[in-house]
Formats: sequence, C-alpha cells, structure tokens
Amino acid sequence: MSDLKKFEIPGHVTLADGNGGLSKLLIETEWSTAEIYLHGAHVTHFQKKGEAPLLFLSEASEFHAEKPIRGGIPIIFPWFGPREGLPSHGFARNVEWDIKETTQLADGAVRICLRMPAVEFHDVEYIVTVGDTLALELLVGNTGEKEASFETCLHTYFQIGSIDDVSITGLKDTGYFDKVKETGALETASAIRIEGEVDRVYFDTTAAVEIIDTKIGRKIRIEKSGSASTVVWNPWIAKSKAMADFGDDEYLQMLCVESGNVTKNKIILPPGECAVLKVEVSSVELA
Ligand code: BG6
Repeated sequence: MSDLKKFEIPGHVTLADGNGGLSKLLIETEWSTAEIYLHGAHVTHFQKKGEAPLLFLSEASEFHAEKPIRGGIPIIFPWFGPREGLPSHGFARNVEWDIKETTQLADGAVRICLRMPAVEFHDVEYIVTVGDTLALELLVGNTGEKEASFETCLHTYFQIGSIDDVSITGLKDTGYFDKVKETGALETASAIRIEGEVDRVYFDTTAAVEIIDTKIGRKIRIEKSGSASTVVWNPWIAKSKAMADFGDDEYLQMLCVESGNVTKNKIILPPGECAVLKVEVSSVELA
C-alpha cells in the first residue's frame, strides 16, 4: 500500500483501509465526496454536499477479495448474468485493479484512472471523474489478433427514498426482455413504477433515463454513450431474503438502472479497436 501513497492528492485523494482489509480511495471535491475500492474498481459512494448519497450500498455487503461488493457500481465484464462454473456477471468485479493515475482537473474535479490486471487480448481501463456529477468511462481495447466479443455493464445501485415513491422515465416504446416473466415486451409506460420484482433488459436504447424520487425530492439523471442496453432491477421481497449479502428490507431503498451492452447488444470488437462506455450521473432537486 505504501507505494500507492504517491497517488494521493492532499485534501482531495486519500488512500485508506476499507472494510475487510481492502484498500479504497477517498475522494473529496468542492461539490462532493466519493469512495472507490480497488477491489473491482468499485465505486461504493458518491454524495453531493448537502444531498443524500446517490449510491446505495448494502449493509450486508461482504468485503472479500474473491466476492463482489453489493451496491455502489459493480463493473460487469466480460459477461453479463450467470455462466456455469464461473462467477456471475464476469470477473472484473472480483479482482483488484491497479491505480494508473490520479489528477485534479483545472475545474476542481478529480479524475481517477484504474486499470484491470492484464487479461488475454483485452486492455481494460476505468476512468472515474468526481465533481458536481459522477462520470464513468469503461474502455476495453482488443489487443489480440482476432475479433473479440464481450458484454459490459455499469451496474449502478441508486439510493432512493422509498420504492413506492419513485418512477423511471426515458424507456417508453423500448423493447425489453423480462427476466422475471421470461418473455419479451414493449415498454408502454412513460413513467415506470416498481410494484414487484423487476428484472428487465431494455435493448437498442441510448436514451438518458431519469429516476424521479418524490420522497427525497430529487431527480437523478443517467446519461450515457457507447451503450445500447439499459437494465432495470429491483429484487423485491423473496429475492432480497434469498440473497445472503443483502438486507431483507433493503429493496425498499434501492433501484438499479444499469447502462451497458448485454445479450443481443454485446460488443463485437475488431483487433486494435477500443470500445468506450460512458455514463454520467447527475442530480437536481425536484421543483
Ligand atoms: C442484474 C440482473 O443486473 O443483476 C439480475 O439482471 C441479477 O438478474 C442482478 O439478479 C444481481 O446479480 P448479482 O450477480 O450481483 O447477484
């Protein structure tokens, strides 16, 4: 850890011991605070000054070198969902990433660049910019000689006031696969409400999505580029109880709106090219 101290920026970036003996970066800017675990390059916290945290982190989360953290923003790569004999949602969230660079930008925002330990034929970097907004960039380069195919997703868990008081806009008229009902459908709601277990993969959509939270009195906006899929997930009652690393009632305070390229939107990348997935999360008080 001592050689990582060179990445500290006094007053803005501090290296600290996180839960379970895992290292994390604490970030402070004039607008916000954030935390990033090197394990999984996992952003576990982002909060604008004077506002409730934007990201949900489970109180039951494990912090273990071989397990994913529950909450925040797990990086899903190179596959989405289960894979027999292999970790769910890929291995990127289960390995310790290296710090490549930390920078304070001219406008006062702080940029952290992390790099996944080398994997065959892929060069993977993650750039997190903490300021008045939280900007995320996942870059996957194909360093091999053949076409590469993979899935990516930034599996963002948002903190909400109460599941009964939120609605999601931006997905009307988008086709999706309903993983609960195991069927395809077209979204008809301009404001989606969550009234039971929801696990949907929306396809071919680059639209910004907003979460309107009337309890906290906040609108969260998720803008993205280089992403053709949006996933909406809330485990509801039975699944929450079945997850060891998630509180039985925590489904009331969280909502996942995930941006990526999954299943039929998976990325097929020619050699020498780089796929860039960008997500910017911002929030405003509800008028
Ligand atoms: C969502 C999936 O993205 O992640 C769900 O659509 C899954 O099906 C959820 O249950 C959580 O996955 P995990 O592996 O973190 O428990």
